Amino acid sequence: MSTKLNIEQLATRQEQSDPIEILRVALEHFPNSAISFSGAEDVVLVDMALRIRKDVQVFSLDTGRLHPETYRFLEEVRNHYGIRLELLSPDNQELEQLVRNKGLFSFYEDGHKECCAIRKVAPLRRKLATVDAWITGLRHDQTPVRASVPLVQEDAAFSTPEHSLVKFNPLANWSSAQVWEYIHDNNVPFNELHRNGYISIGCEPCTRTTLPNQHERAGRWWWEEEAMKECGLHVSAPETSRPKPAEVA
Ligand code: ADX
Ligand code: SF4
Repeated sequence: MSTKLNIEQLATRQEQSDPIEILRVALEHFPNSAISFSGAEDVVLVDMALRIRKDVQVFSLDTGRLHPETYRFLEEVRNHYGIRLELLSPDNQELEQLVRNKGLFSFYEDGHKECCAIRKVAPLRRKLATVDAWITGLRHDQTPVRASVPLVQEDAAFSTPEHSLVKFNPLANWSSAQVWEYIHDNNVPFNELHRNGYISIGCEPCTRTTLPNQHERAGRWWWEEEAMKECGLHVSAPETSRPKPAEVA
């Protein structure tokens, strides 16, 4: 395989590919890449990646507001797979200032962006500055906004002029049903919350169970409009700020 990876070609060529094959390409071309693991059904990425490489980096954003079940699940994953799961915490000064000024539940009043920016996006940015590629569990069937997420892309939101970052979304073409089939077929551990009516899982104050026939993300930031439901981890930067090269080493 060439040492150069053409992102656009790969995104098209791999359209039908198995998530494990996408992961293989990711880990071969970008040895310094990391899986961004939310503590939900994206555990399949961890299971798949470890079949390819035992020392794959896995990190989770510890917002301080996750469910107790999610914290227990993160530890279960760490022990079950024998991995060094990295937990990233928010900056204490920024967090203390937010809570001092606005309390612990300001997101119900003026939206989740400010809290997510401190508890999720800033720690993610810090981590992404240290890797060449990151791997997420984004899927087309999660939201209309995600319906066109490619299998691989240059991450315009987190790349800088000095540091070009690639983002792999190996599960993009998989349905929720396929993910759960993989979990059951391979005895993959999963978050207890999934047994209790939760489908998409984020922070405890911002996640609730969904009713039959509700969309899986109806339980996330339910007090906000659908269009506002990205927290900043997966935004696209405007065209003008995108880094140029489509070819990266
Ligand atoms: S979110 O942006 O709305 O919170 P979602 O819960 O759908 O995202 O998860 C999509 C993907 O974002 C996950 O598969 C994972 O790669 C990443 N992600 C979300 N939350 C976290 C987290 N707390 N830690 C690490 N990665 C996360
Ligand atoms: Fe804060 Fe809610 Fe965002 Fe978690 S999901 S970081 S609690 S606003």
